[in-house]
Amino acid sequence: MTQAPTTGHSENFRGGLADGRLTNKTFERNSKPVIDGLMSFLTGISGNALEIGSGTGQHVCAFSAALPDLIWAPSEPDAIHRTSIDAWRLHLDAAALPAIEIDASADWACEQELQNYLPLALVLSMNVIHIAPFAVAQGIIAGAGKALLRGGFLAFYGPFAENGKHTGDGNRIFDQRLRADNPDWGLRDVVELTSMAQAAGLRFDRLLEMPANNRLLVFQK
Ligand SMILES: C[S@@+](CC[C@H](N)C(=O)[O-])C[C@H]1O[C@@H](n2cnc3c(N)ncnc32)[C@H](O)[C@@H]1O
Repeated sequence: MTQAPTTGHSENFRGGLADGRLTNKTFERNSKPVIDGLMSFLTGISGNALEIGSGTGQHVCAFSAALPDLIWAPSEPDAIHRTSIDAWRLHLDAAALPAIEIDASADWACEQELQNYLPLALVLSMNVIHIAPFAVAQGIIAGAGKALLRGGFLAFYGPFAENGKHTGDGNRIFDQRLRADNPDWGLRDVVELTSMAQAAGLRFDRLLEMPANNRLLVFQK
């Protein structure tokens, strides 16, 4: 494991529950559109799905209910978040597996805990790569190139730039704020991610519009 990543931008998370569950104030808004987007390419697909940077764990529990043909494995580098994920799994009696520790900037496809799940049908990361150093986007793509089975998918959810331009004023201001907080953070560009994905053996599959100017960006191996 490399140096512990900075996870300070989980500003939408709220705590206070005795069992360690955190709640994300954008979960209710985003859950159904993201699930609909995932269903557009995952319906009928079975196998193992790894989420990178699962945060509170609310999304992965909802995914495991909506897409039960996939075995969902949440992951987090942050121990408090892993406690929350496992508390949500218990609270909801969700089918998702226990949270594993993954720092996506490292060579995560080699993590011992992950070996039983390989090869993966899906790698999903939501709202992570703009709030982390660029090495995290690079690590997710490189790891997906190794860990996915042929035909497997890599999906990113969040705000993106497109061909060097922001898709709205809200995203432009958000990008400025992120870069002011940490020069290594900031919205990533769909074109650059696509070129990185191609170099890792993944082809562009789709870019779906989501609420609040977010996107679901999908690649396939
Ligand atoms: C804004 S939260 C998003 C959480 C969740 N995916 C969601 O959409 O609600 C960003 C998450 O990325 C995780 N993260 C930060 N650095 C990471 C890294 N190097 N590898 C994997 N996850 C990381 C943080 O711990 C945090 O839980």
